[in-house]
Amino acid sequence: MEPRAVSESRAVLVQWMGPSDANAAGFVHGGTVMKLCDEAAAAAAIRHARSRVVTAAVDRMTFLQPVHVGDLLTLQASVNAVWRSSMEVGVRVQSENPASGRVRHTNSAYITMVAVDADGRPVGGIPPLRAETADEQRREREAQTRRRNRLAERDELQRGRSA
Ligand SMILES: CC(C)(COP(=O)(O)OP(=O)(O)OC[C@H]1O[C@@H](n2cnc3c(N)ncnc32)[C@H](O)[C@@H]1OP(=O)(O)O)[C@@H](O)C(=O)NCCC(=O)NCCS
Repeated sequence: MEPRAVSESRAVLVQWMGPSDANAAGFVHGGTVMKLCDEAAAAAAIRHARSRVVTAAVDRMTFLQPVHVGDLLTLQASVNAVWRSSMEVGVRVQSENPASGRVRHTNSAYITMVAVDADGRPVGGIPPLRAETADEQRREREAQTRRRNRLAERDELQRGRSA
């Protein structure tokens, strides 16, 4: 199957943060940002696999700085690595104060999406990824490391339970 370039599936979601997204102090809920990350990641994964996808795991979600009511949130999602039916998608979140134009990097997330059929069963054979730039190649290497660590942790926990 023809590899698909990272740039072919990149997705950008832009959303204004209103009062219903925030607490009384005017800070946007972490869960609101997580939901948007999930949506942006799903869009990139669907574009890559051209199939339905489900969220299998949020491997990492970092909150670097608070997001405020009135900020314009931009979420950039790109596929970092592809395996049999699963993909790691990286999401970078930036918050812009529309009045001052100041842009801050507020969140990063790594989310594993799995391509599934109409019955929700994983389907293999999604196109391989073509990482073209040095940054894309670094992200792919780092995603492989995260997957290796995740599988090693799972095996170790299973061994501990059956001991
Ligand atoms: C994700 C799901 C489809 C995996 O199904 P499964 O029967 O465990 O399938 P498999 O064991 O064959 O795993 C399929 C792929 O998912 C990956 N996967 C499964 N669980 C995972 C986890 N917790 N973290 C990361 N990857 C995972 C496997 O590594 C495998 O990847 P690969 O095919 O690229 O090697 C299933 O657990 C599911 O439907 N979960 C609920 C998803 C959901 O409701 N999400 C929220 C709404 S979208």
